[in-house]
Amino acid sequence: MTGSTTRASRPASRSPGPTGTSDPAGDCGEAAPLLKVRGLTRRFGGLVALEEIDLDVEVGRLLVVMGPNGAGKSTLVDLLTGYLRPNEGGFRLDGVDLTFSPRWSLARSGITRTFQVPRPLARFDVRENVRIAARCGSPPRPGRSAAERQAAELLSETGLDGQASCYPAELSLASLRRLELARALAGRPRLLIADEPLGGLAGADIDAGIALLRTLARPDRGVIVIEHAVRAVLQVADELAFLHHGRLLRRGPAAEVLADRAVVDAYVGAGLLRRGLL
Ligand SMILES: Nc1ncnc2c1ncn2[C@@H]1O[C@H](COP(=O)(O)OP(=O)(O)O)[C@@H](O)[C@H]1O
Ligand SMILES: [Mg+2]
Repeated sequence: MTGSTTRASRPASRSPGPTGTSDPAGDCGEAAPLLKVRGLTRRFGGLVALEEIDLDVEVGRLLVVMGPNGAGKSTLVDLLTGYLRPNEGGFRLDGVDLTFSPRWSLARSGITRTFQVPRPLARFDVRENVRIAARCGSPPRPGRSAAERQAAELLSETGLDGQASCYPAELSLASLRRLELARALAGRPRLLIADEPLGGLAGADIDAGIALLRTLARPDRGVIVIEHAVRAVLQVADELAFLHHGRLLRRGPAAEVLADRAVVDAYVGAGLLRRGLL
């Protein structure tokens, strides 16, 4: 936990609650979504960084979370991966309440993430970075040779096989971002969360990154991607959630959300603010 993290109690009214008659997703025998977020709220002192967020992610689907700087995107990722604790609300993965699980336990339970600023293991080459992540992922843990096989497959899937023997310091930002994804995938996630996996990329690297993102959602895996470039969002999102000032402003098909007046205003306003015109 960070020094600024406040310890939150678990208010029953805001938690997704045990699957049962009080839980809407438990009614009518309907399958629970892969990820179910309800009422998720996080404050930093007087600042409400995230307020009463409700979201679902299904397997095989990629949800993009978008919003201006400071909208609460990274706070959402940190809450879902145990880097922060919520003040209110909670989330379930495959019907299991993981709201207050520690980081290591969340990764074992099937939620892995990438970081906005890549965090490779600097002393190990690319292949080792992925192999170690495979050995530390959710059970059943592979043995040494199975982890090597998995690492080789992931390096191929992420286009890193030509750089397997390179050290992180030798990689371009595009390759570092791919390594982040390969390491997160090596944990065999049910839910992969990628925080700005295209951040800082340009030109052909963005196109290649988009192509890679489009392969991530699988029948046994759901994906959340934080992204703000409209072109990329339109190409990768099965669904778009737009955050503004910590609130979920709109959610739905990407083209519809991006055409929404409130969303356009929020984005244009943020752009003007950045340029000092507001
Ligand atoms: N550790 C923290 N302490 C205080 N305020 C924070 C902290 N982390 C984030 N914030 C604030 O919470 C809000 C949301 O931040 P963040 O989730 O990083 O936004 P985004 O990722 O959408 O740019 C911002 O106003 C930010 O300044
Ligand atoms: Mg952020």
